[in-house]
Amino acid sequence: MSRPFLGVILAAGKGTRFKSNQIKILHSLLNIPMICYVVKALEEVKPEKILVVVGHQKEKVMETLSSYNVEFIEQVEQKGTAHALMSCKKVFEENMEKDILVLYGDAPLIQSELLKTLIHSHQNSNNIVTLITAELDSPEGYGRIIRDEKGHIMKVIEERNASEEERRIKEINTGIYMFKISELLPALFRISLDEVKKEYYLTQIVEIFYKMKKPIGEVKTRQIEDILGINTRLELARAISILKGRKIKKLSENGVTFLDPNNTWVDFTVEIGKETIIYPHVILEKNTIIGEECVIYPYVHIIDSKIGNKVKVLSSSVIEESTIEDEARIGPFTHLRPKTVIKNKAKVGNFVEMKNTIFGAGSKAGHLSYLGDSEIGENVNIGAGTITCNYDGIKKHKTLIEEGAFIGSGTELVAPIKIGKKSYIGAGSTITKDTEPYSLTVARARQVSKPDWVKRKRKEK
Ligand code: UD1
Ligand code: CA
Repeated sequence: MSRPFLGVILAAGKGTRFKSNQIKILHSLLNIPMICYVVKALEEVKPEKILVVVGHQKEKVMETLSSYNVEFIEQVEQKGTAHALMSCKKVFEENMEKDILVLYGDAPLIQSELLKTLIHSHQNSNNIVTLITAELDSPEGYGRIIRDEKGHIMKVIEERNASEEERRIKEINTGIYMFKISELLPALFRISLDEVKKEYYLTQIVEIFYKMKKPIGEVKTRQIEDILGINTRLELARAISILKGRKIKKLSENGVTFLDPNNTWVDFTVEIGKETIIYPHVILEKNTIIGEECVIYPYVHIIDSKIGNKVKVLSSSVIEESTIEDEARIGPFTHLRPKTVIKNKAKVGNFVEMKNTIFGAGSKAGHLSYLGDSEIGENVNIGAGTITCNYDGIKKHKTLIEEGAFIGSGTELVAPIKIGKKSYIGAGSTITKDTEPYSLTVARARQVSKPDWVKRKRKEK
């Protein structure tokens, strides 16, 4: 049995190097805010309680984490990582016999396995602090680990305070530590203000402990991709790419085929069923759910949509906030705008745009149409170039097309309008009145032909 412990995530700093109006830890990686990844990893190792130190934009941070079981502690002024922990003084005093696992909110790649290793290593030793360290080829930006002649960790030096020689050290402080609270608390208040940045650095505590000859331990990890911190936008991009790799790996293991994983975008929140094939250059965003045995062809962009089983989405289609039922076929070059529902086995083809439209089972709209604010029954045929005129400049109106209707090519349906069951509309009609079931309606000027008109015209000249 492990000793009881608490977890704390430091998330009060602005993230100056990120150059953003929004606090850095709320920036999203694959549709999940940075801080949430840290909370999730920590939840998995089951601390008694999770504290989150907030300060900068604290309302937004608290709102983002409102569905998590965490306790917020305010750091009124942001005077460094040690200062952030000092804000937790009261909770620490109530839990003196326990350990605390400290994480920074800007290192979202951490996974629970590594945390378990740290907890195990710390709790099976006498260490009063155990740090996770890592050897990086490019250690720029991180605090470096300084060891004494026996190889014991004696201090952590921040890059901005490090000498040229110290900067060449490749072993870095990941910012993930476990402390004995009873030892941490008094030592925190012995940390002095760093003169360069006018902050209280938590990392100074290592040197304080070393001088007190207290046992300091470390877990040196090879899992470089778990510990990367994000200070800049380029580091954010790298972290996104690592998370995307993890997401695609997991989906692949569950039976999804990605033909070109490096050139596919899949948000962390997307779900895909087995035997589905994803072609290169597909972008799947937000809470999109794709069923089994689908094929998503190149350059398709799907946002927040639900796709059933055995659906084919052909190249270059865009689908937003829509639902596509089983065995439907979409594209190429289809644009489905929000609130569109494509029912079973329907076919929507080239250059067809729909918005807020229910498109009935087995219905077809093969080419060049706009269907907006419409309700279209089963087995309807929409001829090429059909357009719903749904907007009169002030209001949007509804178009109803009942089952089995046949709309000839080049038809304009001026809404509000209802096309009766199994009725026909002649090509090129502009329909302004409802049509009866089983009727034929033609609404176009009669064709006029004048024999020899051209010859006469020429003679006049
Ligand atoms: C920190 C470590 C560094 C380590 C690196 C790992 C210190 C002094 N340095 O540097 O050794 O290599 O992380 O990524 O700890 N925060 C607060 N309140 C504050 C200041 C910061 O809550 O007053 C939070 C920030 O929101 C952030 C975290 O603490 O999530 C780390 O702060 P940051 O300024 O990014 O530290 P680094 O310079 O990256
Ligand atoms: Ca950082």
